[in-house]
Amino acid sequence: MACTMNLHIDQQRLQSEIDELAQISEAEPPVVTRVVFSEADLRARAWITAKCREAQLSVRTDAVGNTFARWQGTLPNAAVVGTGSHLDAIPNAGKYDGVVGVLGGLEAIRALERAAFRPAHPIELLIFTSEEPTRFGVGCLGSRLLSGTLSPASAARLTDASGATLETVLRSRGFTGELASVLLPADHHKAFVELHIEQGRLLEQQKIPLGIVQKIAAPASAKILVEGSGGHAGGVLMSERRDALCAASELILAVESAARSGKAPDTVATVGICEVFPGAVNSIPSCVRLSLDVRDTELARRDSLIEQIAQAAEAIAAKRQVAIRTDLLNADAPADCAPLVIQALSDSCRAHHLPFLPMVSRAYHDSLFMSRVAPTAMLFIPCHNGYSHRPDEYAAPEDIARGVLILAETLARLAS
Ligand code: HGY
Ligand code: MN
Ligand code: MN
Repeated sequence: MACTMNLHIDQQRLQSEIDELAQISEAEPPVVTRVVFSEADLRARAWITAKCREAQLSVRTDAVGNTFARWQGTLPNAAVVGTGSHLDAIPNAGKYDGVVGVLGGLEAIRALERAAFRPAHPIELLIFTSEEPTRFGVGCLGSRLLSGTLSPASAARLTDASGATLETVLRSRGFTGELASVLLPADHHKAFVELHIEQGRLLEQQKIPLGIVQKIAAPASAKILVEGSGGHAGGVLMSERRDALCAASELILAVESAARSGKAPDTVATVGICEVFPGAVNSIPSCVRLSLDVRDTELARRDSLIEQIAQAAEAIAAKRQVAIRTDLLNADAPADCAPLVIQALSDSCRAHHLPFLPMVSRAYHDSLFMSRVAPTAMLFIPCHNGYSHRPDEYAAPEDIARGVLILAETLARLAS
């Protein structure tokens, strides 16, 4: 169905809401830190719930904190057309990652309401819990549970840095209900579409205002423990040392060269956390904890990179007589986006005479897991220099408004 309604996106209001939400942070603005279940995250949840109710949406929250804001359709029991993203943010982040998909999704719904559009299928704005891995080490906790990708038992065992389990944290924040109740019925969604900043530079470089995601990269993450022997920085001779930090440093460089040696640009690997024990200026590091994040759009390539890193760790452990243990936290498959949703997005762009770029997403998103239970695709807008996960993350108001216009048009097409 061609929808060429008279859609108007309230760019001003949307920008002021993005700016208002950015003030709800554990850090001094313009830095956004909003780790899941922190005081700022709870305030942001209350704030967005009030916004959704203002828009006459009915709001429910599930046992892990996923929030569903529903616009009832004329076929109330029909499968849902979903959109949404996340509001949690890693430490020292910006104000657009996830937020554009949540507030943009809300504005898309409001624009459709203003255009007197009436959906047949219910349209549901989803705000996922814990898209970022910051607190529990695994990203997309809420979408993994609702798609059945993570079992309630495995989720309940997750702990944060203080040793508190997910269950304990949920209860202390007033979330009731069993994690098993989070799983959505298989036929809940007709389609799902997520609006997000690109977190890359392609759209800006090619001066194309919109990207339609065809594939979402496969992320894997691990914890690595390097154990040597410590000792006095003065008393222990170099020939007698088993320095855990030197071994970890060699491994970090091996991770980088293994990822660089790959032929494809989509192969990436990062060590983002390096904790040194005991961390004293005059004490030889005895133990180092590393995080490892490995991604690719091709599963086989991603897994062979993990294998190469394991072999490098073995060689370094033998050479330096240290112990290196790798615990894989997650190793997800990539997602192919659904032709149904890609078609609706491209038809919408054409209806508004807007150029778009078919592309891949190297960042992972809740859409990776929504694709396990619903025809799913993503719509990207440019972000300046590709900056993301840093305070100078920036998306221009007119780029955001353009993305929301196409999102609204696409939701109308899918929900008719
Ligand atoms: O890490 C990611 O790709 C996402 O931003 N959590
Ligand atoms: Mn992110
Ligand atoms: Mn994100």
